[in-house]
Parts: sequence; structure tokens; C-alpha cells
Amino acid sequence: MYARIAGTGSYLPKKILTNADLEKMVDTTDEWIKSRSGIEQRHIAVPGETTTDLAVPAARAAMAAAGVGPADIDLICVGTTTPDLIFPNVGTLLQQRLGIHGCAAFSLEAACSGFIYALSVAEKFVRLGESKCALVVGAETLSRMVDWTDRSTCVLFGDGAGAVILKPSVEPGIISTHLHADGKYKDLLYFPEGISTGFNLAGQGKAFLRMKGNEVYKVAVTTLGRVVLETLAANGIDKSQIDWLVPHQANIRIIEAIAKRLEMPMERVIVTLATHGNTSAASIPLALDAGIRDGRIKPGQQLLLAAFGGGLTWGSALVRL
Ligand code: UT7
Repeated sequence: MYARIAGTGSYLPKKILTNADLEKMVDTTDEWIKSRSGIEQRHIAVPGETTTDLAVPAARAAMAAAGVGPADIDLICVGTTTPDLIFPNVGTLLQQRLGIHGCAAFSLEAACSGFIYALSVAEKFVRLGESKCALVVGAETLSRMVDWTDRSTCVLFGDGAGAVILKPSVEPGIISTHLHADGKYKDLLYFPEGISTGFNLAGQGKAFLRMKGNEVYKVAVTTLGRVVLETLAANGIDKSQIDWLVPHQANIRIIEAIAKRLEMPMERVIVTLATHGNTSAASIPLALDAGIRDGRIKPGQQLLLAAFGGGLTWGSALVRL
């Protein structure tokens, strides 16, 4: 038994922030942002627009694509680092908004790897027969964590949500997932405050995402490179058998390095970075939905999903659509 992706959906907030807009906010240039990251614009949630607000239309689109309704969903698993509230979790907030009652609903936090972690957890429920129809979401409003006066981080991130519906199938499916983390890298990418350390350490509204971009870059290339080779070896398949690489969208140079390791031309990589920026846990399901809806990714094709993020966390999924 496998868990199969029966439908995908995504949603981006309406407000767009271009590199030209950022030139007016911080000491940066369109040329620097494009050449160093590949990003041209990003979508930003307006005040009051929450992670759950983005997750709802993404989930509805995935449910419509899969032909399922609220009564069919029996598990909700959301990857997010930017919950509306500390609790109730985003899974339950989403559940209520979708008119679903009673099924297990939770969110998990693995930064930009959140969707791969959520997919890996949910596919086990489906594969083991405990879920017949799981809703898996990656949704973020990282713009709320960013210091909009810090040019080294604010140009990189955007908001959005992506979702998939998983159903049991005798045909593959999610073929394998590979999750990793190493907390020794915690200082490379983190948000400095939380409940048990006490909010307001830096003063109300003064805490922001902190990143050693250069060092994250190096570890990302190494760990992603390793996990894609691990995925191929675990399944006894060759690089040439991957139809599409659907990577976390953080930096075009990182994506190109992984494509090179897989000897894949960039034409077989789904890249949404230029228009979405880095949407953290939402980036892979957003890219997956884009590739499916524009007809590039076709039923029966084999996809390699690969993510990394704060923690550091990283992981992959080999998927037959
Ligand atoms: O989702 C996972 C999380 N994060 C990532 O994956 C990020 C991984 N890292 C990266 O993508 C890249 O390291 C960045 C895009 C963040 C930075 O690119 P870089 O080529 O590593 O640049 P750098 O940090 O080495 O900075 C080069 C220069 C510096 O100036 P000096 O010291 O050489 O004079 C920076 O101060 O660029 C400067 N700089 C900027 N200049 C214009 C940094 N940010 C900007 C900016 N505009 N926005």
C-alpha cells in the first residue's frame, strides 16, 4: 500500500513586493537580488492576513483537484514555522475553517523542511491504513519574522501556502521519504524568542529572523546533495529516472548546484523562486502545484522533492505522481 497524491493546490497573497519596491526600503538593487538569489518579486500577507488564511484556499484547491469534500478528510497535517497562534495549532484552525470535525489535526515545525516532514508523517498514516484521505499543507507568513530594515534577509522571503491530498493506492505513490536534522547548526538560522525563553527579550516587536546566509548556503548545498543521492540509492534508481526535481526555493544557485549533481538540465527543475521568493515550508507544495497545473508535470512521472531549512533540517521525497 502506498499514499498517492490525489490533488494539489496553492495560494499566494495578493500583495506583491518587487525588487524595485525593496530598492526604496533598504540599500539594495534589483541586480544584486536577482544575481545573488534569483528572486524578482515575492507575495506578502497584508496586516491581519494569517498563515491559516493562506492555507484555507490552498487546501480547498487541493480538495477540489482530488474531488474530495470536508467529510472525506480524516487527517490534517500542516508544516509551518509561523502559526497564527501558539495554540490552537494551525491544523485545527484550518480544520474549523474548512468545516471539518473530529479528525486528528496538527502542525509541525521544521522551518523550510516543514512540508517534507509533514508529507513524510502523513504518508505513514495513509500507508498504514489509519487515514483514507489526508490533507497535507505547507503554509507560512515569514514576512512577519523578517526585519524589514535588514537587507541581508528581507529581500529573500515571501508568504504563501501549498497543499496536497493523500489517498491510499496500490500503485506508488510516495515511494520513500528521508528526513534529517542536525541541531549543531542552530545558530545559522533561527528566530531568537519563544514562549519558554520568554517573549520580549529584545523588546516588543524587536525580535527578527537571524541568518548567517553564507554558512547556510554551504551546508544547504552539501546536505541537499547528500540527501538526493541517498534517495536514489535507497530506491536503487539512477539519476536519469527522475523526471522532475521540485526543490525548496531559497536560492537559484543552490538549486542549480543540486540539479548539476543530478545531471539534470534546468528544464527539468520546477523553479518558482523568481516570483515567489523563499516561502519556507510552502515553497515545495507551491512549486509542485505550479508544475502540475501548467501541465509540465504529468501523471505517472517520477519526482524528487528536496528541502532544507532552520534547525538545520533537511529531507527528500521520491514521488510517483
Ligand atoms: O530557506 C533556507 C534559508 N536560507 C537560505 O537558503 C539562504 C542561503 N544563503 C543565500 O542564499 C546567500 O548566502 C544570500 C543570498 C543570503 C547572500 O548571498 P551571498 O552571495 O552569500 O552574499 P554575502 O552574504 O556574501 O554578501 C556579499 C555582499 C556583502 O557586502 P561586502 O561585505 O562584500 O561588502 C553584503 O553586505 O553583499 C552585501 N549584501 C547586499 N548588497 C545589496 C547583502 N545583502 C545585500 C542586499 N543588497 N540585499
